[in-house]
Amino acid sequence: MTDDLLARIQVGGEVPHHVAIIMDGNGRWARSRFMPRPMGHRAGVKALRETVEGAKDAGVKVLTIFAFSQENWSRPQSEVGALMALLQEFVAKEIGDLKKNGVEVSVLGEVERLGPRARKAVDRLIQETAGGDQLNLNICVSYGSRAEIVRAARALASDVKDGMSLDEITEEEFSSRLYTSKWPDPDLLIRTSGEFRISNFLLWQLAYTEIYVTDVLWPDFDREELFRAIEDFQGRDRRFGKVPV
Ligand code: IPE
Ligand code: IPE
Ligand code: MG
Repeated sequence: MTDDLLARIQVGGEVPHHVAIIMDGNGRWARSRFMPRPMGHRAGVKALRETVEGAKDAGVKVLTIFAFSQENWSRPQSEVGALMALLQEFVAKEIGDLKKNGVEVSVLGEVERLGPRARKAVDRLIQETAGGDQLNLNICVSYGSRAEIVRAARALASDVKDGMSLDEITEEEFSSRLYTSKWPDPDLLIRTSGEFRISNFLLWQLAYTEIYVTDVLWPDFDREELFRAIEDFQGRDRRFGKVPV
């Protein structure tokens, strides 16, 4: 079934080059099973593994996932702690397969806020997966898009102080100061758990991204759900403000 779907999207049109995902619904998944919220986050790791492998198999080149937002720091300390521990466990357990699959990982966000152990795990993940040439996986941790935009504005202001002229401030120059500077904007944004909002994710980069919302909670997301989203994307008419040809 999943393989049929994969075969279909491979001939069905353009596969999105860059897919972004707001992985949401872990807490609700756990609550519906009378489990503590961190169990939902743990179950979400399996979904992530399947999604990374599915993206690679489908021919997606860049996958950007929202793992932990700036605002998520305000959750109860116990939940933040569990998420940070899970991040370290994720690195320890998954790094081998990520390398084997040619996945190069980048971590986007204010990583300075992470504790020393989580920071070390993140650095190791970046260093050891460098050079993977099948898929770029961007993990957004301690990420907030408004903060990212302010950071870019500050960088530009500093360049202006150093002699850059105001005319040189273009969309391209602005983009090149965002965390995502190396990659083209996302073609497809997937949000799980049925929420129709952006939650401070990639506000600049999503200008012309196709949005796909599914009711599936993140821990239940899998390869097949990813392929369904891609198939839906292939049916979209991306006009970029122009008239259809
Ligand atoms: C997404 O699941 C994971 C993070 C935001 C870290 P949630 O924890 O937001 O789950 P819900 O939305 O409460 O169900
Ligand atoms: C967005 O989900 C952040 C991540 C998926 C990491 P949230 O659950 O934090 O967003 P809201 O609170 O529903 O907007
Ligand atoms: Mg949520």
